[in-house]
Amino acid sequence: MSNLLCCSIWNKRFNAILKWNAFKFSVFLLISVVVTVVILSRNHARNIEADFSSSYLFSSSSPANESPLCSGNLLDKRQIRYAKEGGGSCQLLHYNFERAVGCFDALYERHYSDWNSPHILNHINGPNRKLHFAFIGDSRIRQQFFNFLKLIPDYDWESQPNPLPSGHHGDMEVTSDIIRLRLSFQWRPILNDTVIETIRQWATASATYRPNFIVIGITVWHMLHSEGADFKLYKEKLKELAPFLGQLANVSRVIWLNQYPVIEKYGYSGAMNTDIFSEKIHRYNKAVTSALQQNYSGMRMIWDSSNILVEEYIRGCFLYVRRQRESHSFSDPDHSYINCLDFTHPGYSALSQAAQLLFNDICNEFY
Ligand SMILES: *[C@@H]1O[C@H](CO)[C@@H](O)[C@H](O)[C@H]1NC(C)=O
Ligand SMILES: *[C@@H]1O[C@H](CO)[C@@H](O)[C@H](O)[C@H]1NC(C)=O
Ligand SMILES: *[C@@H]1O[C@H](CO)[C@@H](O)[C@H](O)[C@H]1NC(C)=O
Repeated sequence: MSNLLCCSIWNKRFNAILKWNAFKFSVFLLISVVVTVVILSRNHARNIEADFSSSYLFSSSSPANESPLCSGNLLDKRQIRYAKEGGGSCQLLHYNFERAVGCFDALYERHYSDWNSPHILNHINGPNRKLHFAFIGDSRIRQQFFNFLKLIPDYDWESQPNPLPSGHHGDMEVTSDIIRLRLSFQWRPILNDTVIETIRQWATASATYRPNFIVIGITVWHMLHSEGADFKLYKEKLKELAPFLGQLANVSRVIWLNQYPVIEKYGYSGAMNTDIFSEKIHRYNKAVTSALQQNYSGMRMIWDSSNILVEEYIRGCFLYVRRQRESHSFSDPDHSYINCLDFTHPGYSALSQAAQLLFNDICNEFY
């Protein structure tokens, strides 16, 4: 009896020790996994930087080792079209609140300095006048809008709706009187006559009503079978849109966001995506390029330099999913940073870098 008691107590203690050791072991395992992942992802980030800088930004294919950066062409990776006049440090700048605001001030002065003369001062183009960035398109443009917004300080934001909803299928707007800035997102997932009419009006109406910068991208919904997936119709609509976009690009800055690649498999099921996949995206991108670049080639409209960031993101997701399967213990709590289950919207880790490129392109001349 006492023997049994002794042994059952001993067993309990032994079990407790075992459990404690198992616990310590799993903590140790968890820490090593986290450390490994951190090291790997830092290497990975370094690789991205290396890739990014060697293969693209500092490519030596152009004359006199001129990188696209030095020649002021950050959004279009195909060609170097214009040389930056004078000055310029030829370095990719990191944009923070301060630099972003400085840039908006400089842009404002450039656009509106002569608007302040008394004879055109009125309630529309007078003191209430704001620099207007319009983002127009589907959820991929919306995500770019959000990432642009993250670099702008909230001194006195007024937003509509308030607060801004995250997965919203609808228009949104943020204004700041202090920065004299208006950022709008127009939810237009389908390239139809409404969109074409808006662009036509902006191109032909007086400058008072037209945005100063337009970031546009309307494609992926046209690939959905549920929406008809009519490639021919899409090309026709592009053809209708192109001349107005060309006209608008003459008087505002127009940036058409090229379609990023996607993760080819749905996160949960692992099934191949038969609606939206890279080969199809490539076909749509080519249609856009031929509609917009053929006749308006001087206009630097297409932004395709951030593809490389998303390609790396997707590669990262592939490794991440594999590693997760192996370790079962690492998950990313903040899904906005990286969310590999979302096959079509790259996370903050890629889009924030894309937003940096956009700021560099628009603002570097002021620094
Ligand atoms: C165009 O699509 C939008 C949805 O994005 C819809 O609200 C609008 O009515 C459509 N316009 C036409 C002319 O079909
Ligand atoms: C842009 O403006 C120039 C000069 O005003 C004009 O010659 C050209 O046709 C315009 N381009 C488009 C696409 O409207
Ligand atoms: C480009 O211009 C040519 C001739 O001016 C015209 O035939 C063609 O349709 C135009 N292409 C687009 C996409 O506007």
